[in-house]
Amino acid sequence: MKKAKLFIDEKEVYEFPVQVDNMKGISLDIRNLRKDTGMITYDPGFGNTGSCQSAVTFLDGEKGILQYRGYAIEDLVEKCDFVEVAFLLVHGSLPNKKERYKYQELLNNHSMIHADMMDFFRGYPDHAHPMSILSAMVVSLSAFYPEIDLDEDPEAQMDLTVTRLLSKMRTIAAFTYRKLNGMDFVNPSYKYSYCANFLNMMFSSPVRDYTPNPVHVKAINKLLILHADHEQNCSTTAVRLIGSSEASLYAAVSAGICALWGPKHGGANQAVIEMLEKIRDDGITVDEAIRKAQDKDDPFKLMGFGHRVYKTYDPRAKIARKLCREVLDDLGKSDELLDIAIDLEQQALKNEYFIERNLYPNIDFYTGIIFRAMGIPTNMYTVMFALGRLPGWIAHYLEWHHDPYEKIGRPRQHYIGPTPKQVVPLEER
Ligand code: CMC
Repeated sequence: MKKAKLFIDEKEVYEFPVQVDNMKGISLDIRNLRKDTGMITYDPGFGNTGSCQSAVTFLDGEKGILQYRGYAIEDLVEKCDFVEVAFLLVHGSLPNKKERYKYQELLNNHSMIHADMMDFFRGYPDHAHPMSILSAMVVSLSAFYPEIDLDEDPEAQMDLTVTRLLSKMRTIAAFTYRKLNGMDFVNPSYKYSYCANFLNMMFSSPVRDYTPNPVHVKAINKLLILHADHEQNCSTTAVRLIGSSEASLYAAVSAGICALWGPKHGGANQAVIEMLEKIRDDGITVDEAIRKAQDKDDPFKLMGFGHRVYKTYDPRAKIARKLCREVLDDLGKSDELLDIAIDLEQQALKNEYFIERNLYPNIDFYTGIIFRAMGIPTNMYTVMFALGRLPGWIAHYLEWHHDPYEKIGRPRQHYIGPTPKQVVPLEER
């Protein structure tokens, strides 16, 4: 095994084992650093910290490569539907025809939610953000479907929980939309595929016939696949961290939903559309927007641009950009927000500030325009991201669950508070 040496003031203080992963990535094993030397590492934002070993997703941000379980995202989007990819992430291999059929049946069998949960939906105000409802409803599933006796048949019990969550979260997402729009709930139906079922629960109406548009069903499948995993990002790390305390899958995923909500993460898809609308409505030119995004005194950022790990075009954004055109062409529509987005992208990619910092469009830059074309309201975009990310969160939770090296997550800190002092009694202060 290779070793790396640490010198302080030219004195060798430590020798690290060097690990090489399956794609030739190199890491220094620092697990015993504190025990052996009293030192810790300092890495705010965890940009250089490998927190676990994982076999779920491979990502090369310099080359723009994303693979789930060894399959390129471009291949999966072309040849699979979302349920197959969910199966791949959760179970480690693509399903054969029999497994695929059985999985669909299982998902259908577990698609309803407990009738008492309807009262929760009714209690929310109409201005509630759907992500708050989604997160609360998912953690509430643990009350209605408590984890069963893991001593009995832990694998079967966990499978049941996973299937329930995959199926019911889709129902919860659609019910959330209907509640916030004052509409009666539409139950899931056996006659639809996973994504068509979702669109039907969202948009079918008692007064007009509704059939999910096949182009939209295909687009939703692709979008959910694009979102399905992204290795150790903020929300997935939250899921693994919560899971590491042995909290339930529902609790961990609910935390993941909260982590995803922020505009620097999954909330960016909503923020992109709000930014494009602001540019349009306030008559801001694309040049001005690009200038504002570079000004450190201006809070304006180019939402949907930049990424912690991609230093080239996000491979997901390439696919989403193409999909955007396909969906709009099918509807025979143009969208002025898409025109602004394309203009922004072209200007930014030529601009020194963006070039120097490797800032390219990320997945969220174009997805909002697609959701918008399908009639999905802006505040639901991050819910769509969450639906897509769910199998990834589950896969990481299960991976932690089965990993013999996993411990409860508990980072250290670099303390910058006061040095010890004595309390002065109240009467003397
Ligand atoms: N517009 C303008 N400047 C930017 C942007 C942007 N969107 N993103 C980064 N920068 C600048 C940043 O100000 C910094 O400049 P300097 O070196 O002069 O201080 C430099 O680029 C590096 O940025 P950073 O904030 O240190 O990078 P990070 O890795 O900590 O943050 C990010 C990554 C995604 C949070 C950030 O790029 C950002 O806030 N982007 C906009 C929000 C967004 O689109 N988020 C969705 C990410 S993709 C979905 C997901 O997987 O979560």
